[in-house]
Amino acid sequence: MKVMVCGKGGSGKSSISVIIAKILAKKKRVYLIDSDESNTLLPNLVGVKQPRAIVEYLGGRKGLFDKGEVSIVKALAKAEKGIDLSKLPSDYISYSKEGIGLVTIGKVKNFQEGCACPLNFITKTILKNLVLNDKDFVIVDTDAGVEHIGRGVEEGCDAVIVVADPTAEALSLAKTLKDAFKPLNKEFWLIINKATQDIVEIMREKAREFGLVIDGIIRFDNEVFKSCLQGKPLKANEAVEDVKVALSQIGLL
Ligand SMILES: Nc1ncnc2c1ncn2[C@@H]1O[C@H](COP(=O)(O)OP(=O)(O)O)[C@@H](O)[C@H]1O
Ligand SMILES: [Mg+2]
Repeated sequence: MKVMVCGKGGSGKSSISVIIAKILAKKKRVYLIDSDESNTLLPNLVGVKQPRAIVEYLGGRKGLFDKGEVSIVKALAKAEKGIDLSKLPSDYISYSKEGIGLVTIGKVKNFQEGCACPLNFITKTILKNLVLNDKDFVIVDTDAGVEHIGRGVEEGCDAVIVVADPTAEALSLAKTLKDAFKPLNKEFWLIINKATQDIVEIMREKAREFGLVIDGIIRFDNEVFKSCLQGKPLKANEAVEDVKVALSQIGLL
């Protein structure tokens, strides 16, 4: 199973991705793919050292489109047919104590370095060509917004989880993403994050206005907030309980 976690910047995509990864790692072999080209602290949240970026493995961003899908798969393929993340060289995948394998696609760091398109192309190519067994579960923590749609990254996944914080903007983006995914016939789930008691009803009403169904509500959790502030391995209390409920509801647990 390959699930992309999308949504507005700051809505909690990375935090929720890590919480999902930790919960599922108890039963599955979980890979977390960091495809956000700007934020760099996911390894801290997972509690691992930063793996080398896949874009480096492929010789850098230049000329990636010319190389094309076939040669990227060839370079990365460690299985007979397609890409097996467990066979990546050890400096390109970092394993947490729970067994979560973190893979980083690449970051845009320098002025005028160019856009993130080649990085999205790598993510798409990897997702489309992964060889997985029943126990494997891949979570892709994406960049904010809609750029990945433009590059068709979603083509390679089975389902999309949109994380929305309690804002009309986040729900509006969720609606855009839902409409964009519709032709792909993928599972689509909406999770409201950082919810406080008084706003739940307002969110439900607002979601209805957008024609959206809410599949899970994750409470504001001060431990999550503090871990992100300190850049430390993610700790969570009520958010874990709520993510478990949401995962059961959508059939992933
Ligand atoms: N359930 C939650 N409760 C409290 N704070 C949260 C929760 N989820 C995310 N946050 C906070 O929101 C901010 C953005 O989270 P992050 O996961 O980095 O979002 P994104 O990856 O969507 O940009 C961080 O400060 C994080 O601690
Ligand atoms: Mg993030």
